[in-house]
Amino acid sequence: MNHFYNPVAVSLGTESAEAFAELFNERYAGVKRVLLLTRGGGVEKSDCLQPVLNALSKKETLLIEVTLNNPNVADIWKLKQEIEPFQYDLIVAIGGGSVMDAAKVMSALQHKTLSTVAEVRGAITSEAYRSELYFTPWVGIPTTSGTGSEVTCWATVWDEECGSKYSVSDERLYANAALILPELTVTMPLRLSVATALDALCHATEAYWSMHTNTVTRVYALQAIERIRLSLPLLIEQPDNLVLREQLSLGSLMAGLAFSNTRTTACHSISYPLTMLFGIDHGIAASITLSTVLKHNFDALIEPDKLLCAFGAANVEEVDRLIRNMYTIYGLSSNLSSYGVTVEGIREVVSLAYTKGRMDNNPVEISSEELERMLVSLL
Ligand SMILES: [Fe+2]
Repeated sequence: MNHFYNPVAVSLGTESAEAFAELFNERYAGVKRVLLLTRGGGVEKSDCLQPVLNALSKKETLLIEVTLNNPNVADIWKLKQEIEPFQYDLIVAIGGGSVMDAAKVMSALQHKTLSTVAEVRGAITSEAYRSELYFTPWVGIPTTSGTGSEVTCWATVWDEECGSKYSVSDERLYANAALILPELTVTMPLRLSVATALDALCHATEAYWSMHTNTVTRVYALQAIERIRLSLPLLIEQPDNLVLREQLSLGSLMAGLAFSNTRTTACHSISYPLTMLFGIDHGIAASITLSTVLKHNFDALIEPDKLLCAFGAANVEEVDRLIRNMYTIYGLSSNLSSYGVTVEGIREVVSLAYTKGRMDNNPVEISSEELERMLVSLL
């Protein structure tokens, strides 16, 4: 199937910030109250965001710093309680994946009356939000380069209490517009830059081989992989280099566009329990199995040579070396045992790794015995 859809108006680079502000003024002339969610640290005052700040100054604004990482149902309930009295007509999110995910969930749940954490959990798991006639529009300005959340229509909400991870998903959750400014990513800690770039590398690769892959998705995926593969190893020497930052932002955007139409597959499905049980950063938890899953999927790939070429590799072993090399450059271990994973822990990971819509989106089935073997080989 070669159907591709993505409705987000994307502006890229500082020179586009003025045009973005003009679009903002035109599109939201009737908007009175803006909920401004940021990652904190005064990021909204960054010089490159001045045109956006000018546009926002004409509105009544409530600024909330969303400093949490991987929002869970209790965080969402707390945030909803805090902003409820402010009748916002638009959300602007300036931050990483967690901030944009919070914006999406607030967009979906704004008009639902939810008095307890259990009711928030119920609204998410039953997908009751989908019956809402109206979702609050939102605009994304990412400060990381990896999640692609500004161009996807779902958000992740965690639930440690129930040992689960939920997806809040609806086509109306696409951002109205996104402004991508590579300058904003310079302030990220290097480890986060690396983890988010590895996440984007997985988004692109998994989009390439997904059961829902299509010709358009694969073009974006290959472009994303090549840009990340060439830029990421150089960032350690020049973390402030804006050319590298732009390549990583572009790579993340293209990976986001690619997987916005396919969703992710086995690597992400396996990553969720790795993050939930062992606290492994999302991008590391997803990419640690990337070459192993590539080996498993290889015979099912469409045009495998193109994928290898994007990785600059002649075979799967070279892709494995390339990813391990990226880990080594940044002092990351590619052994699960370094993150506290044990043989017993692997059994628990396997039991939680089969997320519907993710694992069954992998082009080749992975049995629980095969998955256990794969993970043991990574200890
Ligand atoms: Fe991801």
